[in-house]
This record gives sequence, C-alpha cells and structure tokens, in this order.
Amino acid sequence: MAGGQLAGVDMATLAEMAVEVLTTADGREKTALGRRHAAAWFASRAAGAPLDIGRASPPDRPARPARPELLSPRDMPRRRPGSLAGRLALLHAVAHIELNAVDLHWDIIARFAHVPMPLGFYDDWVKAADEECKHFNLLCDCLEAHGSQYGALPAHAGMWRAAEDTATDFMGRLAVVPMVLEARGLDVTPQMIDIFRAAGDTGAIAALETIYAEEVGHVAYGSKWFHFLCGRHEMDPKDAFHDLVRRYFHGALKPPFNEEKRAEAGLPPDFYWPLAEEGAPEFGKNSRKSAD
Ligand SMILES: [Fe+2]
Ligand SMILES: [Fe+2]
Repeated sequence: MAGGQLAGVDMATLAEMAVEVLTTADGREKTALGRRHAAAWFASRAAGAPLDIGRASPPDRPARPARPELLSPRDMPRRRPGSLAGRLALLHAVAHIELNAVDLHWDIIARFAHVPMPLGFYDDWVKAADEECKHFNLLCDCLEAHGSQYGALPAHAGMWRAAEDTATDFMGRLAVVPMVLEARGLDVTPQMIDIFRAAGDTGAIAALETIYAEEVGHVAYGSKWFHFLCGRHEMDPKDAFHDLVRRYFHGALKPPFNEEKRAEAGLPPDFYWPLAEEGAPEFGKNSRKSAD
C-alpha cells in the first residue's frame, strides 16, 4: 500500500498534522488533536503504510489560548512554596511548560520536514509529543481537582524563544530543547515531587512521577538523534553540542545536575559540566566529590 493511504482514504501528511496541532489555540483541544494524530501515525506504522512526512509551513509562533496572561519572569507573583497557593502555582507553571513542549515537539517535525530522516526519528518525536499532551492533561486534571484550571494564573512569556532562536538550525534545536531544557526538567522534578509528597497530594505526585519517568525518554531521543546527525556530518558530538548551546542558549547551565538520569538518557557529564555556571575544568573532580 502506498505511503499516505490507509484503506483507500487519503490521509494528511505528518507535517500537515503537526501544523494543525500548532494552529489549535485551546490547550485541551490542542492535546486531544495531538493524541489523535499520534494514534494515526502509529496506526499507519503498524499497518506497514507510514503516512508521508510531507512538507508544511509551521507558524512562527503556535496558537495559544487567550489565558493565561503571559508575564516576564521577573513580574511573576511570588508565592510561598509550601502553601496550597504555592503548589497550585507550581502545577500551573509545569502545565504551561508541558503545553509549550507539545508545540515544540510538533514544531520540530514540521519545521525540519525537509531534512531526510529515518522513520524512527518521527516515531520518537510523535511519541514524545503524545506524552507531552498527556502531561498537560494530567496537570490540568490536578489543577481542576483543586478547583483551579490552566489559565487561572499568569504564566511565563518567552517560552517560545528557544524555538525561534533555533528555527533554522536542526542540530541547534536538538541541542537546546531536549538536551538542555528537557534535561533541566530531570534535575528539578524530584524536589518538586517532594513538595507534593510533604502535602500528601497523591494526584500531583502520580502526575509528576509519570512526567519524570517519560521525560528521560525525551532527553534520550534528543541525544540519539543529535549523535545521528553528528555522524552524518562527521562532527565531534561533544564539541558540536558545546558550540550550539553557547550559540543558542542564553546563560549557563545550572547545577546540581541529576547525573543518574542524565546518564540514563545518554548525556555524559563532559557534555554539560563545561557549560555550567562555575565552568569546566573541575567538572570531573566535582562530580566525583559529590559521590563521596
Ligand atoms: Fe513533559
Ligand atoms: Fe518532554
């Protein structure tokens, strides 16, 4: 059966499906559509007739709902972390990150559709995008269980900056989004889970534990395909990573790092320690010291 056809019905291409998600504004609608499109991709793969990747023009910025109001990080209200208001603000902030992640993963599929990649690349990115949809919905469920909702609080403006900065650089996108930003999530999520554990919020703990487990995979996809492209272009992966992060990521990486989970995701210490706030030369010693 020809690619792009299933049971005689003309199917949209994967790139067109990605743009449909990007141009859907409402969070729940965006994630419902994303999950349907992910299911269609995997059904086409299982049938041995993968949808065409095709070409499509993703918007410069994804469509987003009228709320939340977007503020610069310095204008965000401060709340006591242990209070219910603080915990709701935290869940809201993570929901916002997850919605951004939904768009980031569909965007990488559409924006770089002209670069020939093995089908496994699309399998990984559609799976990651599908999981981000699930993560956003889990956090919305938590907010709603507390009588709140996504949009009830302000959220960080500027989340799309990493996408804009790397809009024409596929390897830069992989270096900054999964290998820096999503890897940062692995560093900070355990402390977040502790906050909800102290409050006995079992719903939030379960949601964050699912996110924590699945985000290891997203960082691993980033590392895998970054290394693949380095191989294709005969580049040294560590040097290329350092160059691209310095070019596109604003600021230093913040220790402490979750070395265990980063290793599981295929990110060795000599990738990230040289980009850390305190600089490179001692990284081997520091990481050994922390294990003593
Ligand atoms: Fe996520
Ligand atoms: Fe992710």
